Amino acid sequence: MLNDRLDQLTDYPFDRLRALLDPITPPPVSPLVMSIGEPQHAAPSFLREVLDANAALWNRYPPTNGTPAFRSAVVDWLNRRFHLPAGMLDADRHVLPVAGTREALYAIADLVVPRRKSGGKAAVLIPNPFYQVYLGAALMAGAEAVFLQAGESTGFLPDFSPLEPAASNDTMFDPYVLDRTALAYLCSPANPQGAIMGADALERAIRLARRHDFVLAVDECYSEIYDRDPPVGALEVCARMGGDLGNVLVFHSLSKRSSVPGLRSGFVAGDPALIAAFARLRAYGGAVTPLPVLTAATVLWRDEDHVDRSRSLYRAKIDAAERILGGRFGFRRPPGSFFLWLKVGDGEEAAKALWREAAIRVLPGAYLARPTANGVNPGAGYIRVALVHDQETTEAALRRIRDIL
Ligand SMILES: Cc1ncc(COP(=O)(O)O)c(C=O)c1O
Repeated sequence: MLNDRLDQLTDYPFDRLRALLDPITPPPVSPLVMSIGEPQHAAPSFLREVLDANAALWNRYPPTNGTPAFRSAVVDWLNRRFHLPAGMLDADRHVLPVAGTREALYAIADLVVPRRKSGGKAAVLIPNPFYQVYLGAALMAGAEAVFLQAGESTGFLPDFSPLEPAASNDTMFDPYVLDRTALAYLCSPANPQGAIMGADALERAIRLARRHDFVLAVDECYSEIYDRDPPVGALEVCARMGGDLGNVLVFHSLSKRSSVPGLRSGFVAGDPALIAAFARLRAYGGAVTPLPVLTAATVLWRDEDHVDRSRSLYRAKIDAAERILGGRFGFRRPPGSFFLWLKVGDGEEAAKALWREAAIRVLPGAYLARPTANGVNPGAGYIRVALVHDQETTEAALRRIRDIL
């Protein structure tokens, strides 16, 4: 009765966490959820006003490609944020709204993974550790998932070099895997590691995608949560390379930028041929964005004040984490995102101890990674801690985490 590809999927990390922690009785204090990257900063107050003012639009079916106002707010934002040359992006050809990036990151595999490529099973490249949706999408699309190391030894960034033909004496990969690759996911800033890909690394990935004719899906949903310099984006690198958007799609979300994960609003932008094909597919089964939400999203993409304020709040929490944890658990200030990726020895045991002793939920790193060919799960020694609560709550929790671990 079920699609047998489903058998290849483990339960989602939060279900695995529930199974791990349910048998344990926490102390009788309010539980603190630091396992989910669900921003708790207040959404800007104008959001409710815009939604109310547009309530009549709930009666209307929204178009798959959104509204002209939404698309041009997105293009203006991309131009400002990534210093794109005027005219590089066309609001009607290069942008599609998505109902949060999760569904779009999943659906893109449906769009671009063929049954076979270059005479073999199609492959999807995924950094390891990674946002689990990439793997679900790859496997349900019938692809082989090929993992790129993104641990401590590679600066927590994905390393393509073992796949390059020059490295074909590396026996971990078949030398034609890049030719079989239909799709590669990148995440910068990365969940869970917080690492940021530089322009040169992105350029290498774009060149590789074009040389081997695969799609590069660059998940930039943490691009506005950064410590020092704004992360470079893949479209910015395309501009630097001459402006061609071929093979490249970026995914952006309001969930983290504007602290509205419940709004379910983001966009995908890039290669016009892919955008047109995605719109065609989405007309059948895509999650459309309701018109009042699109109107609110239009206003949010045009406002930076609330984003600056939120970024400062995250920075203050990272400062506190450095003060409280610095020098322990391999603490690094994450250049991007709001996650701490802490090296604690055994991530599952650490998660159990924090729940048992302090009712704090964190995610074992193993649930965000897959074992490599040598059987080692690169996330197993880590926990991921989301700094999404207010300053006081976060500081108290970090002290408890330090003391317990
Ligand atoms: C790396 C990454 N990509 C995408 C998403 C999806 O976010 P949304 O669907 O809210 O846009 C998340 C959410 O946690 C994420 O961590």
